[in-house]
Amino acid sequence: MAIAAPIPSAPDHLAVFAAPERHGLRLVRGVLHVEDVPLAAIAAAAGTPTYIYSSAHISARYDELAAACAGHPTLLCYAVKANSSQAVLRTLAQRGAGADIVSGGELARALAVGIPAGKIVFSGVGKLDVEIDAAISAGIRAINVESAEELERVAVRARALGRIADVTLRLNPDIDPDTHPYLATGLRESKFGVAMAEAEALALRAASLEGLRLVGLSFHIGSQISEAAPFLESAARLRSLVLRLRELGVRLRHIDLGGGLGIAYAGGEPTLDVAAFGAAVTAAARELELELVLEPGRFFVGNAGVLLTRVIGRKRGEARNFVIVDAAMNDLIRPALYGAWHPVVPVDVAAAGRPSHRADVVGPVCESGDFLAQDRLLPWPEPGELLAVLGAGAYGMAMASTYNTRPLPAEVLVRGELMAVTRPRRSIEALLAEERLPEWLR
Ligand code: LLP
Repeated sequence: MAIAAPIPSAPDHLAVFAAPERHGLRLVRGVLHVEDVPLAAIAAAAGTPTYIYSSAHISARYDELAAACAGHPTLLCYAVKANSSQAVLRTLAQRGAGADIVSGGELARALAVGIPAGKIVFSGVGKLDVEIDAAISAGIRAINVESAEELERVAVRARALGRIADVTLRLNPDIDPDTHPYLATGLRESKFGVAMAEAEALALRAASLEGLRLVGLSFHIGSQISEAAPFLESAARLRSLVLRLRELGVRLRHIDLGGGLGIAYAGGEPTLDVAAFGAAVTAAARELELELVLEPGRFFVGNAGVLLTRVIGRKRGEARNFVIVDAAMNDLIRPALYGAWHPVVPVDVAAAGRPSHRADVVGPVCESGDFLAQDRLLPWPEPGELLAVLGAGAYGMAMASTYNTRPLPAEVLVRGELMAVTRPRRSIEALLAEERLPEWLR
């Protein structure tokens, strides 16, 4: 799936208002809601820019995938990096989700919201000793080991702690998942995983090293993938290794196919056929006689999230028009970094009837790369009006920064009629107070 959609011939709201639930929204008597709460009410309570998440949408995505995999023992380990809000994590934990973590910080978050250690897997190409120690001590389900050197290091740490570390080998199946180059991780050239040529020797080493238990094989081939085929092809490339290990008496528990399940950002984009995906990947695991682990991030939360922003002003340039809003690249970096497409719609549905103009939706940050949408047809908004940037639940807040000394956005979780500010906006004073001036500069 191409990550950037083509230049549109129609404003985004036409497709979005026709199927608002795809983006975690509802249109109730002409007013845009997240579940039962009007967006305008959230702006009044929490200000802007603010990320809003729908718990119903997150739960529905989780339940849909869980149901699709129900015929086979499957653990859905939510990739915490996509959105590590504790409220979001708890929402998923309550459904039964495990966690895929990539740092000690994410381990702490997952444990803090009550995800059992036995449902946590730890991926990542550069794990620190302290992080490995914390994972072993917590007793997580598996450390997904990414290199020969790391394997030895995990064994040393486990022996030092007097524990057995459960590990998988993260393999690099050399598969091109047809996605944005920054989002492909299973290619030969990528920094991730162990080459297939080394896999057997390393698996046997893992199985024999004191302090380790080899419990599975894993891979993660990339992100925003809209079909099962690359997952199946990757699993097939592991088949002979699984059989060979079994022959040699190494019995594995699970195969971890990683995350990367794609979502539809623009209105007309195809969506993943979840039932067919679940049937196919569970069949592949069953064939290998292994439990299945998946690590979806974006799939659960991407379209559950809206970035609410307010129009500061407009500018009609010679070559382009600009709508300047109070959210910026520091709040949502995906358009600048990947050329990613997020629908932008007016919150006041009546305003959508106005004539549309082609415009870039830009923030106040001092960079030309600071845009949320480019060359987009948009009902020309008035200053002070609210716009909703959709599909912002994954890799939005998680990648936000305080560039230009802009405090991070607030976060709100909605459930039915309930809404809670789960992360208040930090004040500028609090931001400044995090730093120290050295004595000799005072
Ligand atoms: N497992 C591993 C080992 C990963 O590295 C990732 C994502 C996932 C699971 C979850 O992938 P997902 O299901 O969310 O596609 N910042 C980019 C995405 C980077 C993904 C990095 N790894 C974006 O905004 O599109």
